[in-house]
Amino acid sequence: MKKVEIIIRPFKLEEIKECLTEIGIKGMTVTDVKGFGRQGGHKEVYRGAEYQVDFLPKIKVEVVIEEELLDELMEAVVNAARTGQVGDGKIFISPVDEVVRIRTGESGTDAL
Ligand SMILES: Nc1ncnc2c1ncn2[C@@H]1O[C@H](COP(=O)(O)OP(=O)(O)OP(=O)(O)O)[C@@H](O)[C@H]1O
Ligand SMILES: [Mg+2]
Repeated sequence: MKKVEIIIRPFKLEEIKECLTEIGIKGMTVTDVKGFGRQGGHKEVYRGAEYQVDFLPKIKVEVVIEEELLDELMEAVVNAARTGQVGDGKIFISPVDEVVRIRTGESGTDAL
């Protein structure tokens, strides 16, 4: 299993949610975050205004998936999240050792 952390522009959330559910993910966690990348948060436009601060609002989507879904998910997310401007975000992938579904006690991919 893999955990995919996707940092996106806030207005892209609906589109990302739709493409993830189409792929067949079983669940997702969404968090409001703030951060910066290579530009240090400068020269990015958010809601028409150029931010002069270091941190810009982003959304982090976390999904844990079966590895077989990874390639399809990555392609769909990149296509959905890209505007071509700086600040489009990033995708971080890491291994997941174990998952437990609390209600049933199931574990592994059955628990997703
Ligand atoms: N190396 C990193 N580690 C952790 N979070 C990061 C990293 N790079 C970017 N982020 C997160 O992703 C968000 C968007 O990053 P961003 O897309 O601006 O990356 P970038 O490398 O500057 O690419 P671009 O040049 O296209 O803007 C940041 O606000 C931050 O929350
Ligand atoms: Mg950037």
